[in-house]
Amino acid sequence: MIQEQINQYSLEIDEFSPANAAELEEFRIRFLGTKGIIKDLFEQFKTVTSEEKRVLGKVLNEFKQQAEAKHAEFKEAFDAESQTAKTEGDLTLPGEGYAVGSRHPLSLVRNEIIDIFKRLGFVVAEGPEIEDDWHNFSALNFPEEHPARDMQDTFFIKKNAGKDDIALRTHTSSVQVRMMENGKPPFRAIMPGRVYRNEAISARAHCFFHQVEGLYIDENVSFADLKQTLYHFVQELYGEGTKVRFRPSYFPFTEPSAEMDISCTICKGAGCNMCKHTGWVEILGCGMVDPNVLENCGIDSKKLTGFAFGMGIERIANLKWVIRDLRLFSENDVRFLRQFKSEII
Ligand code: DAH
Repeated sequence: MIQEQINQYSLEIDEFSPANAAELEEFRIRFLGTKGIIKDLFEQFKTVTSEEKRVLGKVLNEFKQQAEAKHAEFKEAFDAESQTAKTEGDLTLPGEGYAVGSRHPLSLVRNEIIDIFKRLGFVVAEGPEIEDDWHNFSALNFPEEHPARDMQDTFFIKKNAGKDDIALRTHTSSVQVRMMENGKPPFRAIMPGRVYRNEAISARAHCFFHQVEGLYIDENVSFADLKQTLYHFVQELYGEGTKVRFRPSYFPFTEPSAEMDISCTICKGAGCNMCKHTGWVEILGCGMVDPNVLENCGIDSKKLTGFAFGMGIERIANLKWVIRDLRLFSENDVRFLRQFKSEII
């Protein structure tokens, strides 16, 4: 008896599709109300033998769930409808926020570097990523047989082992040359951009990365100016009290040349993996622009001097956020990118 009724009602519920909230309410009263069908079936259930109860109990519960699910499904739809009907045209309600993206961590760092140097009177300049031999190497005083010109490091687009080689720039120092060739001194510029090197991709190396180049050419520019400018930059970027040290180095385009280390921003000099337990990390190369480079670019090296520096943006970002795998920067994984939302724009 109960089973038959359930079979029939179940079919009815299956097919039920109310046109409005009133029909749904009728359904609720008929099936789920205090004097409804389900209540009645449970009353009948009390009278059957315990053997029948074992089978019917389950069937009856499933039937009840079926009715409840049907009701919930339409109730949700009708509630949402009536909500919009009520609020449509109500301009006092707060708007729905829409999701904005976040700046890429490398853009954040690049912008911060630009801001610091802008405050010192530097302008921003850019150059092409596809460069000729002259701007990437020769004008920068690279000897003909310098290993950096080797196919190992450089992606050549056209290679004739000579002055008309075309390559993806290996550093942003090429923009210095363009700036000096095309402009009028004094120069005070920073030059951010992407650079390319023929390296196997791993957590610690990539075939492209980003640099910021700096150039300052004027009368009487000295190494002291270079040191003070970079010292100030580091205090602004990593906070007052960050220590710097300069180690003698070699670059074809600067003389003298140096590499600059800062006290490790992660362990504050105590020793950690980032600084390989030395307390210091290298962040950039720099030096006084070699007179040969000035002359190559049409600048009288007897009258003017200048300094230059270059740094990797990924490295600077790493010292802010300890990003252990370089590949994260170019994989576009939003779970990584979203973490930089609250940072300075
Ligand atoms: N171009 C160098 C590099 O890619 C970085 C660099 C070092 C740039 C010293 C400079 C400089 O302007 O003076 O490793």
